Amino acid sequence: MSSTGPAAAPGPSPLHVPVLLDRVTELLGPACAADGAVLVDATLGLAGHTLALLAANPGLRVVGLDRDPQARAEATRRIEAAGHADRVTVVPAVFDELSDVLARLGIDEVQGVLFDLGVSSLQLDRPDRGFSYSTDAPLDMRMDPGAPRTAADVVNTYPPRDLARVLRVYGEERFASRIAAAIDRERTREPFTGTARLAELVRESIPAATRRTGGHPAKRTFQALRIEVNDELGALERALPDAIDALAVGGRIAVITFHSLEDRIVKQTLAAGALDRTPPDLPVPLPEHSPVLRLLTRGGEAAAGDELATNPRAASARVRAAERIRRAA
Ligand SMILES: C[S@@+](CC[C@H](N)C(=O)[O-])C[C@H]1O[C@@H](n2cnc3c(N)ncnc32)[C@H](O)[C@@H]1O
Repeated sequence: MSSTGPAAAPGPSPLHVPVLLDRVTELLGPACAADGAVLVDATLGLAGHTLALLAANPGLRVVGLDRDPQARAEATRRIEAAGHADRVTVVPAVFDELSDVLARLGIDEVQGVLFDLGVSSLQLDRPDRGFSYSTDAPLDMRMDPGAPRTAADVVNTYPPRDLARVLRVYGEERFASRIAAAIDRERTREPFTGTARLAELVRESIPAATRRTGGHPAKRTFQALRIEVNDELGALERALPDAIDALAVGGRIAVITFHSLEDRIVKQTLAAGALDRTPPDLPVPLPEHSPVLRLLTRGGEAAAGDELATNPRAASARVRAAERIRRAA
């Protein structure tokens, strides 16, 4: 296996249950079955999906991207332990660099692309990464610890209006302005450095009656900050068209999302590819305007009941998939 990054951390592997594993394996399977087929796992994480696809498709090779060095190290360890090291190339990259990565590797087209968005259990379970509001930790939330901007930077430096926008748009937080005003007041007293003080301030800023419903009051604020810190939606908007471009005819893309903002981007991008763009005033469809994609899923497919019973993370997961049916004109 070729890879870059630090050695895997010693100790037991973190518990990790890949979401929608059977459905993703089924959706990508027909494209990955041929000898020499290449799959880009754009969010390698702990390699759960990659390992299942490698096991199911003996001729498949994988290019696995992840911006998180801890994830790459743990994935590398798991892939080696499974005996698949020679079939996987692990690359440190944000997934909007997908085209450059393939060009560097001399790969013209691929048979599959998988995105399993959001944070991994490894990132959530390591308190020092600052993703979780349930334990006190540095207010960080960077998927790539070398990236320049932390959650503390956002919280301590954004003008209140921008902060409110981030919380409202990315967290769908009704009380965004109240929370932003409270943060602005508190940070002049003392800048925020840890997750616990922020989580408590959010809790206090929300009306008492609302605190009793809808999970932890800081959940939406933490989601919003994470999306902003990692430019999650921007990277997705840039990466999806490149991923579709990289697909060979017959190649397939599958995307797992965890909230409506991500799902909307995926839905719109795949639907645009499945559209016939023949001008309406022409009497017959023109081949060069015909769809480049065929949708494989009806809407965003949710996990089945038995998966929901064993993996709480699957509750908000939706998968959409499509097949490339012709080359671009
Ligand atoms: C939900 S996990 C993937 C889990 C994986 N499918 C598995 O089964 O082990 C998402 C992973 O994608 C990575 N990631 C998220 N956004 C990324 C991006 N824009 N570029 C590269 N990696 C990203 C995260 O660091 C995380 O490790």
